[in-house]
Amino acid sequence: MKVVGDSVIAFDGVTAFVGGKEVLRDISWRVGKGENWAVVGPNGSGKTTLLKMVGGYHWPKKGKIEVLGRAFGRSDLRELRRTIGMVSSYVTDRVPREQRVLDVVTSGIYSSIRLWKTPTERDTKLAASLLDLVGCAPHAGRTFGELSQGEQQKVVIARALASNPVLLMLDEPCNGLDLRSREEFLDGLTRAAARTSMLYVTHRIEEIPAGFTHAMLIRDGSVVASGDIAKTLNGRNMTRCFGVGVRVRRHGGRFSAIV
Ligand SMILES: Nc1ncnc2c1ncn2[C@@H]1O[C@H](COP(=O)(O)OP(=O)(O)OP(=O)(O)O)[C@@H](O)[C@H]1O
Ligand SMILES: [Mg+2]
Repeated sequence: MKVVGDSVIAFDGVTAFVGGKEVLRDISWRVGKGENWAVVGPNGSGKTTLLKMVGGYHWPKKGKIEVLGRAFGRSDLRELRRTIGMVSSYVTDRVPREQRVLDVVTSGIYSSIRLWKTPTERDTKLAASLLDLVGCAPHAGRTFGELSQGEQQKVVIARALASNPVLLMLDEPCNGLDLRSREEFLDGLTRAAARTSMLYVTHRIEEIPAGFTHAMLIRDGSVVASGDIAKTLNGRNMTRCFGVGVRVRRHGGRFSAIV
């Protein structure tokens, strides 16, 4: 596959090592404009590593990566990151526990973990409205470390939206969310899916928001199947991917796995 300049993401024969171990093997993948991808695979299959590579937090040992038309190594990653939102425990773990919740979200506007300039009134208003959107307005003045796991997750989601990203990456974003919060959040993603490119990583296909167009199934660092979501997320591919007999049901644009 040739890396194409106008795609959102292009991986060309990418191999990655973590801690001396090969965790992604010869991945060729292209995400076109207007596509929203679910990346599905068992624990340890390489999903988070794949997202870290798209965000420029981890580099390939072999192969080429292009994100939003820019090749890694030739562009300023800080600038690229400003256009990419990431919701992941990797980000959550880096939020200073003593930081005020409102400031956590405001810092997302500048895509930095700590605030590096005094926020304008406009930035503060935007951050407050995003906190309201995720149902965390009452927590604005508390410190991040005081919040429950689910509340922290919602704040990190608001933070990721603050930079109005062209590409939003979500790594198991429903972890810690209760059923109602999860469904409200997934509804919000379905609405946003029409205007933002998204990568949604999960091992639970029940969590893939309606409106997602494509899926990639990975196992042990290799692609099992990839392409149109309805064709890719079938029982045969899921059985190969997870190593247990799985049937897949589709209902109203959502999926469920029956083991
Ligand atoms: N810091 C590290 N040192 C050594 N090996 C690592 C490290 N981080 C990840 N790995 C290994 O890399 C492989 C891929 O990990 P990755 O986190 O990408 O998997 P994942 O698909 O996101 O899994 P999960 O569903 O459990 O989040 C795993 O085998 C994991 O043990
Ligand atoms: Mg992971």
